[in-house]
Amino acid sequence: MPALVLLGAQWGDEGKGKATDLLGGSVDYVVRYQGGNNAGHTVVVGDQKYALHLLPSGILSPTCVPVIGNGVVVDPSVLLSELSGLNERGVDTSKLLLSGNAHIITPYNVTVDKVTERFLGKRKIGTTGRGIGPTYADKINRVGIRVQDLYDESILTQKVEAALDVKNQILTKLYNRRAIAVGQVVEELLGYAEQIKPYVADTVLVLNQALEDDKVVLFEGGQGTLLDIDHGTYPFVTSSNPTAGGACTGAGVGPTKISRVIGILKAYTTRVGAGPFPTELFDEDGEALRRIGGERGVTTGRDRRCGWFDAVIARYATRVNGLTDFFLTKLDVLTGWEQIPVCVAYEIDGRRVEELPYSQTDFHHAKPVYETFPGWSEDITKAKSFSDLPKNAQNYVRALEEMSGAPISAIGVGPGRDETIEINSFL
Ligand code: GDP
Ligand code: IMO
Ligand code: MG
Repeated sequence: MPALVLLGAQWGDEGKGKATDLLGGSVDYVVRYQGGNNAGHTVVVGDQKYALHLLPSGILSPTCVPVIGNGVVVDPSVLLSELSGLNERGVDTSKLLLSGNAHIITPYNVTVDKVTERFLGKRKIGTTGRGIGPTYADKINRVGIRVQDLYDESILTQKVEAALDVKNQILTKLYNRRAIAVGQVVEELLGYAEQIKPYVADTVLVLNQALEDDKVVLFEGGQGTLLDIDHGTYPFVTSSNPTAGGACTGAGVGPTKISRVIGILKAYTTRVGAGPFPTELFDEDGEALRRIGGERGVTTGRDRRCGWFDAVIARYATRVNGLTDFFLTKLDVLTGWEQIPVCVAYEIDGRRVEELPYSQTDFHHAKPVYETFPGWSEDITKAKSFSDLPKNAQNYVRALEEMSGAPISAIGVGPGRDETIEINSFL
C-alpha cells in the first residue's frame, strides 16, 4: 500500500507539477488534497507546456486516475474550462474523480476575497483573488456549499440563502457593494451540475480500496509548508493545510497508510504575495534569479520575490512534514554564479537562532546568516547522474542535504520531464 505525499517545502512554486508528472507514469492515482485554483503547476512534456490550477498533474499520464479530494475547494467554472482546455489538446480527462464532499467556490466567495483585500489596503495578504479564503471560512462556519449540494435544488437554495443572508449585509453595509441575488447564484451553480456529475464519486472509499489492493497513490500538495494555515507564516498564508497531515484529512486516508513524504525544494527561494522572507534579495542577484528562473506566477502573472536558499526553512519543513526525501529543483538556474550564499541560521535581535522562531515578531526581525559556497559555470542541463555534475555543484547539493535534514533523492536540472537526476527511487 505505497502512499506518497509530494508537497512544497517553501512558499510554493517549488516545481511540484513537474515532480508529480514525473512520477505520474508509475502511480495509479494522483490526488489533490487541499487548496484550489490558487495553485499553478507547470508541466513540460516535450515541446508542450501545461499550466494546471485545479486538476492533479497526474492527469497528463494516461494510466493514472486523477482525483480531487474532499479537502479541495472547487470553482466549477474553472474546473470545466480546465477540462475542456486539456480535451482540446488531446488529453483524456474522463477518468477524473471529484469528491462529493469538496466545497464549491461560489461567485460571492470570489467577490468577498477581492473586496476584503481591497479593504485591508496596506495590510493585505496579496491573495490570488480566487475566493480561497472565504470558501474555507464558509466551510469552517458550516455555511459552505458542497459538490453534492448541486444535485438537490431545494437544499442548494436554502444553503445559498443562509450564506448570502450574512454576506449581503457585509457587502452592502460594510463594503458599499451591491447585494448578490440568491436566484442568480443558484441558477449559475445548477448550470454546472450536469456537466460535473460524471466525475462525482465517493473518493474516500475509492482511495482506501485502492490502497488495500496495493495500488500506488500519490498525494499532490498545492502551495507550500510556509503557506500552511497552521504551520506557515500566519497571517501571510493560504487558508488550508498543504503540510503532510493535510493529505490525510483532505483525502480521508489514515496517517498509517502514508509511506513516504517528499518535499519539493527549490535550490533558491521564491515567494509571491506579502509576508516575511528573510533571504529576499533586492539587488541584481534577485533580478537575475527572477530572469533566469522565469519566476513569474503561473496563476496571477505576478513577479515572484526571489532570494537565496534558506536552510532554516528546509529544516523546519523536514520537521513539520516528517519528510523522508527532498526533490531539489532548479539547480540549473544557479549556474554561472561565482559564489552562492546559503542562509544557515538567523540573527534575531543580536542572537544567533538555528531554528524557525514560532513568534511572528521574531521572524519579522530575522536576518540571514550566510555561508558562501563556490559556484560552477558548466552547463548542467544534460546531467543524468549525480557524478555528471561539476564538483562544486555536487558540494552545494551535499551541503543543502546535510543542513536540511533529509536525503535529496532527485535533482531538477531543467523544466522538462527528462531533465532530472534520480538518486534514490521514490517507488
Ligand atoms: P509548482 O507550483 O510547485 O508546480 O511550480 P510552478 O510550476 O509554479 O513553478 C515552477 C517553474 O519552474 C515552472 O515554470 C517549471 O516548469 C519550472 N521548473 C521545474 N523544475 C525545474 C528545474 O529543475 N529547472 C528549471 N530550470 N525549471 C524548472
Ligand atoms: P502553487 O501550488 C505560491 C499565496 C498567495 C498569497 C497567499 C494567500 O502553485 O505552489 P490565497 O489566494 O491562497 O488565499 O493567497 O498564498 N499562494 C501561492 N503562492 N504558489 C501557490 O500555489 C500559491 N497559492 C497561494 O500569493 O500570498
Ligand atoms: Mg505554482
